[in-house]
Amino acid sequence: MLSVAVVGSGPSGVYTAQALLQQSLVPDVRVHVLDRLPTPYGLVRYGVAPDHEKIKSLQNSLRAVLEDERVTFVGNVGVGGADGVSPARLAELYHAVVYCVGASADRALAVPGENLPGSYSATRFVSWYSAHPDIGADPFARDALGARSAVVIGVGNVAVDVARILARGAGELRRTDVPRGALRALEESRVREVHIVGRRGPSQARFTTKELRELGALPGARVVVDPVELALDPAYAAPDDLPGALPLPAVVRRNLEVLRGWSAGSGAGAAGAVPGGAGGAPGPAADAGRRIRIRFFLRPVELLERGGRVAGVRFARTAPDGAGGVRDTGRYEDVAAQLVLRAVGYRGVELPGLPFDPVNGTVPHAAGRVLRGGVPSPGEYVAGWIKRGPTGVIGSNRSCAKETVASLLADAAALTRRTAAGDPLAVLREWGLRPVEWTGWLSIERAEAELGRSLGRGPVKIPDWAGLLAAAWDENR
Ligand SMILES: Cc1cc2nc3c(=O)[nH]c(=O)nc-3n(C[C@H](O)[C@H](O)[C@H](O)COP(=O)(O)OP(=O)(O)OC[C@H]3O[C@@H](n4cnc5c(N)ncnc54)[C@H](O)[C@@H]3O)c2cc1C
Ligand SMILES: NC(=O)c1ccc[n+]([C@@H]2O[C@H](COP(=O)([O-])OP(=O)(O)OC[C@H]3O[C@@H](n4cnc5c(N)ncnc54)[C@H](OP(=O)(O)O)[C@@H]3O)[C@@H](O)[C@H]2O)c1
Repeated sequence: MLSVAVVGSGPSGVYTAQALLQQSLVPDVRVHVLDRLPTPYGLVRYGVAPDHEKIKSLQNSLRAVLEDERVTFVGNVGVGGADGVSPARLAELYHAVVYCVGASADRALAVPGENLPGSYSATRFVSWYSAHPDIGADPFARDALGARSAVVIGVGNVAVDVARILARGAGELRRTDVPRGALRALEESRVREVHIVGRRGPSQARFTTKELRELGALPGARVVVDPVELALDPAYAAPDDLPGALPLPAVVRRNLEVLRGWSAGSGAGAAGAVPGGAGGAPGPAADAGRRIRIRFFLRPVELLERGGRVAGVRFARTAPDGAGGVRDTGRYEDVAAQLVLRAVGYRGVELPGLPFDPVNGTVPHAAGRVLRGGVPSPGEYVAGWIKRGPTGVIGSNRSCAKETVASLLADAAALTRRTAAGDPLAVLREWGLRPVEWTGWLSIERAEAELGRSLGRGPVKIPDWAGLLAAAWDENR
């Protein structure tokens, strides 16, 4: 029998468990999927936007894996933290441990004013509307959404997600599982302008076309793109030749077509009424709805302050350098904003007791085998964002997990020579931990359904540790 602990119940953890179940080299396999949270699914629960119901429903296929009789969900057990279990002790309990802990921190922008009140990482904003229990007090409800103008820095899919949530009417979010506090704050939000700003050009933007198009489909919001900024991009220089004439990746070509459509609607060459206004294309002054302005070739250099809070962002105007990068032009533009969300990527966090590469924010590995001092460490593996870095959609983690499991299975004969602990759960309890098992998670689900019913909504997420644990341990539910 091969006994494996998977640390992390996000996509990479669950796909690792699935790959272990689906192989035939070692028929008798037992998998414990541990998570520091009492809830499974990682960023599928706490990252994927609430209005992306179809992607959220991937939870159903992850659930089928966690409900397999050979798999045990072990929530509320952190690994490597002060209150958790160390990697060395965990290794005593299983033949192999696969770390699938994701990349939960935000990348720093490293400009003056980054931490002014009113400036937040998108990571924090996402955690808030997703009801992550670590978010604690509700910063966005109190003041941030009193802003009229918001700047989102970065042009990846997370930037598009947070801009969409800011620009979408909260009424539409009522049908989702958004927690009460976030829904109330979004209902009261005064945000009218959302600027999404890239430091390079539209052909280097990281968002995907489906996500980009959604911005144009938001009721009550209008997307504004400056044709002058698009035209700075060499890939856009001959827009009439698109599509097909340029050797562009299909996603870039599709993105450019969508942006070009919006820029045409924005009124070519319109005078700049954008704060600090160098060439933005404003909509009619009487437009009472929300506006999403997608901007390019603006590199953030400083967050501006007034009265102790963020008041705007100073950008250096950039221009293409001919090699996919940009150079500064010596010109600057200030965009007024009382809320700034920095969506410039996630970052892996060092797990005490595991090797860590601080430059890439990943665990060093060879085909998923954790490297200690450059040498594979027997029985230790890694998969998902903590292995590859914080890029890739949910499906990317499936092939990543398969590679890791192939390495693990190749080592299985050596690993199973050692006797693993009889009942790791009993040992974890002896060590003072209080796991939330699958029945506890089902109890949380029922509590969220009950909460939703009491509010005339579908299931509504419980946003705090105390509430989640009380629900998990409520025997009578
Ligand atoms: C905001 C956002 C939105 C996204 N939306 C989409 C989308 O719509 N579609 C799409 O295809 N992809 C989307 N992605 C990408 C997708 O979420 C990732 O590819 C995927 O979640 C990465 O999987 P993972 O298992 O490596 O990490 P995670 O999903 O982060 O899972 C890591 C798990 O490990 C647990 N953990 C962490 N540390 C410890 C510890 N020390 N001990 C025990 N457990 C621990 C965490 O609690 C978590 O459950 C999105 C990403 C983000 C950031
Ligand atoms: N719906 C979905 O499918 C969905 C939703 C959300 C997330 N995801 C996935 O999750 C992964 C992470 O997404 P992400 O948006 O966090 O990361 P990302 O795709 O890497 O985008 C990060 C953005 O931040 C910019 N940036 C980085 N450093 C910067 C700086 N110092 N100043 C200004 N801009 C800076 C990048 O610009 P440069 O290119 O110039 O570096 C890029 O535009 C991606 O693979 C994404 O596709 C998918």
